Amino acid sequence: MRKKSSILLAGLLALSAGSAKADEGMWTLYNLPQAVYEQMKTYGFNLPYDALYSGDDAIMKSVVNFSGFCSGVVVSPDGLVFTNHHCGFEAIRSHSTVEHDYMLNGFYAKSYEEELPNENMFVSFMVEQKDITDELTKKGLYNLPINKQSEFLDSIENVMSKEVKAADPTLRLEIKPYFEGNKFYATTYRDFTDLRLVFTVPKSMGKFGGETDNWMWPRQTCDYSVFRIYADPKTNGPAAYSKDNVPYRPKHWTKVSLDGYKDGDFAMTIGYPGTTNRYLSSYGIKERRDAENAPRAQVRGVKQQIMIRHMRADEAVRIKYDSKYAQSSNYWKNSIGMNKCIDSIGIIRQKQEFEQRIKAYQDTTGYLKGKLDFDKMKDLYAKRFDVQYVFTNWIEAFNRTSEFNTRALQVLGGMEVKGPKDKPAKQYVQFEDNSNAWDEALDKDVMAALLKNYREHVDAKYLPACYAKIDKDFGGDYKKFVDYLYAKSILMKSGEKIFFNKKNYKNDPGVQYGLDIKAIYDEVIEKIRALAPEIKQQERYLCDAKVRMEEDLPHYSDANFTMRLSYGQVKDLVVGGKPAGYYTTSESIVEKMNTGDKVVDYYAEPELRDLMSAKDFGRYTDKESGKMQLCFLTNNDITGGNSGSPMFDGNGNLIGLAFDGNWDSLSSDIRFDPVLARCIGVDMRYVIYLMDKWGHADRLLKEMGIDK
Ligand code: ARG
Repeated sequence: MRKKSSILLAGLLALSAGSAKADEGMWTLYNLPQAVYEQMKTYGFNLPYDALYSGDDAIMKSVVNFSGFCSGVVVSPDGLVFTNHHCGFEAIRSHSTVEHDYMLNGFYAKSYEEELPNENMFVSFMVEQKDITDELTKKGLYNLPINKQSEFLDSIENVMSKEVKAADPTLRLEIKPYFEGNKFYATTYRDFTDLRLVFTVPKSMGKFGGETDNWMWPRQTCDYSVFRIYADPKTNGPAAYSKDNVPYRPKHWTKVSLDGYKDGDFAMTIGYPGTTNRYLSSYGIKERRDAENAPRAQVRGVKQQIMIRHMRADEAVRIKYDSKYAQSSNYWKNSIGMNKCIDSIGIIRQKQEFEQRIKAYQDTTGYLKGKLDFDKMKDLYAKRFDVQYVFTNWIEAFNRTSEFNTRALQVLGGMEVKGPKDKPAKQYVQFEDNSNAWDEALDKDVMAALLKNYREHVDAKYLPACYAKIDKDFGGDYKKFVDYLYAKSILMKSGEKIFFNKKNYKNDPGVQYGLDIKAIYDEVIEKIRALAPEIKQQERYLCDAKVRMEEDLPHYSDANFTMRLSYGQVKDLVVGGKPAGYYTTSESIVEKMNTGDKVVDYYAEPELRDLMSAKDFGRYTDKESGKMQLCFLTNNDITGGNSGSPMFDGNGNLIGLAFDGNWDSLSSDIRFDPVLARCIGVDMRYVIYLMDKWGHADRLLKEMGIDK
């Protein structure tokens, strides 16, 4: 599962679990509880404790954070990295044109020279992690009011970073909160920014099932792509892209296994889960359901309908918006599914019952008495509800939803006059020509529809000033207003420097529009920020109380996009009383291909249809089932950000890549349900089969030590 994109507004606005039952848990590795390790062994993990984190050839050393939104794994001595197709999607898209559409046709670099560099992509290796809570406590962190703590943490992070960099300039240090800020760990990373695309299957396979099958089981998606890390030729260390860089020679890589798995086998996933909220209060869950998920799903539904209409009408538009659409649709569907599960499982009620237990515990022990206060929490969340709802509507309507909106907000950043007072630097903005990433007709339609939708859903007091203008000058016609902005504003000019000065910038209607919508944003965020510290403090107490109440059990912290291990077993699933198996086969994909009204999502080129219809899959056939197995299920605990995570067998070999979760457990981010929650992975035998028979990528197979 790919990490939900952050809601930061680029460059402009400074915006801003649980105890272990059964196999649940996203564990940090350096302090993995012994009890968890023992449990892993009973399931069939065959390696010593040190093989995970601290040993010379520890498994974690080949796991990477992939570009800040996914995970990946190094699989060869020449720095080859596997991740998901949907994680490489934007890279693949950006190299695609109508003439050579790698997205559609797939891509295989037959030599190093043909491997394609990617701007703004990277992989990070975790080098070390440690708990620094005691040090921070000694330095007075918890004596500060909660809203002053992050400043303090930043300053400590700065000092520690400098120390780390002085010893090794290729390292970076990061301090992050764990257990809702009851603990803090410092982690060091080494980042490599020269990352090149090496191989991808056609989208028909890499995204087989498309949006229809997303978050669903059974699944046949061959969701992987292959990149290579490049390094400085002299040091074998990180280097900015250069044609002289050479393939990175890692000390550690994971061995690809073609041995497969069977029901009940040990399985372990290591990767970078983004966010979970398992300690969240019942009030927080309600806010999530009604003020975040619900409006997010509503607005995106409106936007996506327009996008898909334009994409279907024009192939060039489809290419431009493929990845934007997928990104939007992913958490649109997730929001819908999560809300459905919150209700059907009764998660808010369960949490309320749990909070009663905490209260009783407080009453008998006095723990955090007078600090953790459920009435106060209720009150704070009630105060925030309306503004949070407006905020979600605002973000979903105006933040990077159309190119015009993006520029209208971005340009405001250029307005601050920098430099000394007597000689202020001339301010300008310059939009690079990104015309291959957006389409005017679609952009205008989306912008107009979202303006309309925003008004229909938020209280009139949160309407930006431009709405009065829309009514007065354009008779309430959003499309006319948008046409006017496009025609009269300089914002859509690309390539030239746009100079502003304090006097004239408001004359531009696009800039004025940006100021109007930004004013509402500022108002709303201020109200949210005013309540945030106290809410955060209450949630921190709640987590603290839970961990204390259950101190005999090992606990893991909510995901925060740091490396985590989750373990369990290969395990089937029962949906609605019906068994849904634990793997899918080649027959099931052939059956689906080009069927019914799902032609778009289940399309496959004749060549791939033939390959998947093979009578004999040779060594890729599962020995037990006698079938070619495609995707499989484990009960590993994962979430967005885990996409591309290696799935290991009991010997630490690579049997799959995690790429999704299932529909019936979309509330897992809030409460893990061991009966329903599954991790969906693509089988390495399927991965290598297509590399071999479709790609004829012999040089890559050889490099991974897979004989032809
Ligand atoms: N749900 C998966 C994730 O979050 C896959 C997303 C990409 N696939 C798609 N059909 N949009 O990582």
